[in-house]
Amino acid sequence: MSLRDLPKLELHLHLEGAAPPSLIRGMAKEKSVDISRVFCEDGSYDFRDFVHFLSVYEAATSVLKSPEDYARLMTAVLEESASHGVIYTEFFVSPDFCGGSDVTAWREYLHAMEEAATRAEAQLGIASRGIVTCIRHFGPDKAKPTALCAAETAGGWITGFGMGGDESVGHQGDYAYSFDMAREAGLRLTTHAGEWGGPTSVREALDDLKVERLGHGVQVIQDLALVDRLIEEDIVLGVYPKWDRHPIQALRERGVKVTVSTDDPPFFHTTMTREYEQLARVFGWRASDFHEISQTALDAAFCDADTKARLADKLKDHPQ
Ligand code: ADE
Ligand code: ZN
Repeated sequence: MSLRDLPKLELHLHLEGAAPPSLIRGMAKEKSVDISRVFCEDGSYDFRDFVHFLSVYEAATSVLKSPEDYARLMTAVLEESASHGVIYTEFFVSPDFCGGSDVTAWREYLHAMEEAATRAEAQLGIASRGIVTCIRHFGPDKAKPTALCAAETAGGWITGFGMGGDESVGHQGDYAYSFDMAREAGLRLTTHAGEWGGPTSVREALDDLKVERLGHGVQVIQDLALVDRLIEEDIVLGVYPKWDRHPIQALRERGVKVTVSTDDPPFFHTTMTREYEQLARVFGWRASDFHEISQTALDAAFCDADTKARLADKLKDHPQ
């Protein structure tokens, strides 16, 4: 079994967080922007901790200044994902970085991204959808125009609304107005919770934002009653595993639905193939385990039934 060739679904990928450092460096050069402090000597992204990661992420993103830049980024990321066997990706996309959450500008950025995604699907067979994402440390007032961008472009490629950023800022419920607006527009909901925040952050995400998927969620392992609630309410976790004593296996064995993603792959020096290799090495996962998480991801994906049926055929075609 080649782990690289196994068909994979990825539900948690930040578009800017997947930007190859070489693409960002090249664009910075073209535009004569100095972002040298973003990189280490070996050319990879350089950050000390999570809050610094967020600031380096925003500095790298600052070179992406037009819809065409985002189309180039989308093409590069989908090519890389397809080369790791990914057949379906859900991107976190951020109107805050694409025209400052102005609806007219956002439509232009989105159009360029969608065109690139459609081309990649035709050429490489990788399908994708977008989850419009507000950024928690920008505050609840900034989230409202972002949610309006989401609501105005709901349907088609945009199928979800979510929140990333610094989980230690405020409470999940501070963003309820924006999540309500997105829900009323028919969007599916997710948020980052239980990445750095503990069980309280996860409870608030379920109670106050009423999300159906959690990004990360791994800190719930501290609270088994909450773990059981995730099982009861059929909440799916999208996990970026860090390998020492990672709770993914314990959560899965208890019955929580888990999926695997790379989040911001070049920042964390990973790929979907590498995640699969680690799962095989650390927990002895085999083809049947990978098939099970792909099926979980397919069931939890924010896409239409026809797309799911096509993806199910691709999973079925692959020998176990
Ligand atoms: N934005 C990009 N990556 C993120 C992460 N892992 N957590 C929160 N916000 C993010
Ligand atoms: Zn994330």
